[in-house]
Amino acid sequence: MDTRIAVAGGTGLVGTLVVEEVRRAGATPVVVARSRGTDLTTGSGLAEALDGVDAVVDASNVDTLGAKRSIAFFEAATGHLLAAGAAAGVRHHVALSIVGCDRVDLPYYLGKRRQEELVAAGPVPWSVLRATQFHEFAGQLVERSPRPFALAPRMRTQPVAAREVATALVAAALGEPAGQLPDLGGPRVEDMGRMVRDVVRARGTRRLVVPVPMVGRAGRQVGEGGLLPGPGATLGSMTFADWLERV
Ligand SMILES: NC(=O)c1ccc[n+]([C@@H]2O[C@H](COP(=O)([O-])OP(=O)(O)OC[C@H]3O[C@@H](n4cnc5c(N)ncnc54)[C@H](OP(=O)(O)O)[C@@H]3O)[C@@H](O)[C@H]2O)c1
Repeated sequence: MDTRIAVAGGTGLVGTLVVEEVRRAGATPVVVARSRGTDLTTGSGLAEALDGVDAVVDASNVDTLGAKRSIAFFEAATGHLLAAGAAAGVRHHVALSIVGCDRVDLPYYLGKRRQEELVAAGPVPWSVLRATQFHEFAGQLVERSPRPFALAPRMRTQPVAAREVATALVAAALGEPAGQLPDLGGPRVEDMGRMVRDVVRARGTRRLVVPVPMVGRAGRQVGEGGLLPGPGATLGSMTFADWLERV
C-alpha cells in the first residue's frame, strides 16, 4: 500500500530535501506550506492535506531570532499539526529540533523547547530528532546579514549536511515512534565565524565579514559546548569543507 508522508515546511531548506528523500524511499510526499495552500499558524487546509497520511515530518520554520515570535509560531504550528494529525489517524509525528536547544538560552530556542514539549505531551505517537546547525546555515547567515556585511558569530558548532538530516528524518518517519532520538551532528567541530568567511570566499560575494562574539549567558553556554552533540550521538560523514566544494 502507498505510504504517504506529509512534510510540513516541505518547500524550505531541509524540507525540500526531505521531500526528495521521501520519493527516494518509494513513499509519496505531501507538501504542507503556505505556498501550497496550507497555513500551520491558522490550521487552514490542514485537514485536507493530512487525509490518508501515515506520518508527518515537521520541518517548518519561522524567520525570527526573537522569543515571542518563535514561541507563537511553534506553539500554533505544532498544536494544529498534532490536532489535525490525531483526527486524520496519523500514526507517527516526527519533529526536527536543534541539539542544545534545552541547554542554550537563545531566544529562538524557547520556541523549539515549546515545540518539543507539545510533541511529547501530544496525542500522536512521536519522535524528535535534534540536529546541529546545517552546513547551509552559514549561507543563511550571509543572506540575512545587512549589505555590505556578513555577520559571522564566533560559535562552536559541529555542523551537519542538511541532506544527512533529511535522510535521518525519513528513516525515522518510516520506522516506529521512538521518542527522543540520539542527537545528529556532523563529523567535526567548527567555528561558525570561519564557516561564514569560507562561504563568502567560495561564492566570491562582495561582503565584509564581521566577526561577532557571542556574549552573555547564551554566549557562555555556546562556548562551553552547549551546541555540540551529546554522548551516543549519530554523526554524519560529510565535513563542511567537502560540502563547500560540492555546492
Ligand atoms: N538551519 C539550521 O541550521 C537548523 C539546524 C537544526 C534544526 N533546524 C530546524 O529545521 C527546521 C527547518 O529549518 P529551515 O532552515 O529548513 O527552514 P526554512 O528554509 O526557513 O523553511 C521554512 C518552511 O516552513 C514553511 N512555513 C513557514 N511558515 C509557515 C506557515 N505559517 N504555514 C505553513 N508552512 C510554513 C515555509 O513555506 P512557506 O513560506 O511556503 O509557508 C518553508 O517551507 C526548523 O524548525 C529549524 O529549527 C535548523
